[in-house]
Parts: sequence; structure tokens; C-alpha cells
Amino acid sequence: MERRDFIRVCAASAIAFHGAPVPAASDVRPRGYARTLLTDDGGRPLRASQLSVGENYVFHYPFEGTPCFLLNLGKPTGRNVPLKTGTGADYQWPGGVGPRQAIVAYSAICSHQLTYPTRQISFISYRDQSTASRISKPNMIHCCSEHSEFDPAAGARVLGGPAPQPLCAILLEHEAANDTLHATGTLGGEMFDSFFSKYEIRLAMEHGSSRAQQRVSGKTAVSPLKQFCKQQVRC
Ligand code: FES
Repeated sequence: MERRDFIRVCAASAIAFHGAPVPAASDVRPRGYARTLLTDDGGRPLRASQLSVGENYVFHYPFEGTPCFLLNLGKPTGRNVPLKTGTGADYQWPGGVGPRQAIVAYSAICSHQLTYPTRQISFISYRDQSTASRISKPNMIHCCSEHSEFDPAAGARVLGGPAPQPLCAILLEHEAANDTLHATGTLGGEMFDSFFSKYEIRLAMEHGSSRAQQRVSGKTAVSPLKQFCKQQVRC
């Protein structure tokens, strides 16, 4: 189990989230990170209404080097979906946010062997009806490395392949008054320690020395995956 993977109920300092269910003794609690505004590439607040349905968007959170997917699924997601980490700890994914409860975010680090989107190439992405293939089902996040598949409308539950647990969820808040989005924390099995260890040299080259492990705060820019990354592998 990762050091950051979960916080047990006995951790008196655990942070409570608005609307999150009260965990039982074996549950994973939400892990709080800096409340961070999602912006466009120009640093302006991103509006939820700007997000195209089915488009892959990428931002970095809760660390400078940890990519996440932001998706507008176009219709309400499941609510309070019961899930388990790879070690059997329970948690409930609260559901999508925004006017239609259709906006979700997940760590883009595959929970199998940590494939993730880089500036050069991405083997993992969301596929809508138009981009699914015979191998990848529509409306799923598919990792072409070994074909793990995750349902973004159900907390990134594993629907196929060798992944041992859902993608780690990124908790979002939507402010209806101005249609902005904030990332506030994670929920589920984090893989960040293993990720930093496995890709230490590559991350140093991509982000510069130890910057990849610096925590994001204030704001973080959201880009369409097709702009962020030169090549998307679609198996
Ligand atoms: S790394 Fe994603 S399926 Fe193996």
C-alpha cells in the first residue's frame, strides 16, 4: 500500500469534504490538497460550460508532475458509487459535478503499471462513441499498454484488463455562481509514490530536477489532450 494511498478513520487530522459520505472503519477517506482553480492556457478561470462533451482535457494535480484527465461526459454520472482499492479498502465516489453532474476528473496514471500521458505520446485516454475501437468500448478510459479499461461515469471502476483498482479520483468543486471549477483533493488509491520512483529521471527531464513532486497550488492550467500531447495511441 502506498504511503499516500489512504488515511484510516483513526487519523484525527483527516479532512472532511462537503457532501462526502462518512467512512466506516475500513474506508479510504478523501485526501485534501490545496484548493486549486482550473484555468485555461492563458490563466483565465476555466468555465465548466467551455468543456466539450467527450473531449480529453489534461491538467496537473496535486503535484506539478502528476497528470489528470478532466472530462465532460455529457450526462449525469452515477452517485455515491461503491469502490475498492487494490488492497480491498472501501470508498464511495460521490459523482460528477457541474450543472448536469457530468464533469469528472481522475489521475491519468494507469493503476496497472503507471502508463501516463506525456508531451510526446499518450497510451491512455477517454474514448467516446466516435473514437472507440473494436478493442476499446465507447465512453471508457482505455489504456493501450495492456488494455485496462475504466468507467469514468462510475468512479473509474475497472471494467477490463489487469488494473487492480480504479484510477484515483480527483475531487472537484463547481461554483455555480461563476461556473468555475476547483480541484480539492483525491479519493481512492493514489499511485504517486510509485510513479515518482518509477519515472524519476524522465520526470526530472520533463519538469526540471524535483519540480515534478512540488504540490500544485493556486491554479493549474487545463489543455485539450490533443494540444498537450503530440501523439495519441488509439488501440
Ligand atoms: S499500464 Fe495500463 S494496462 Fe498496463
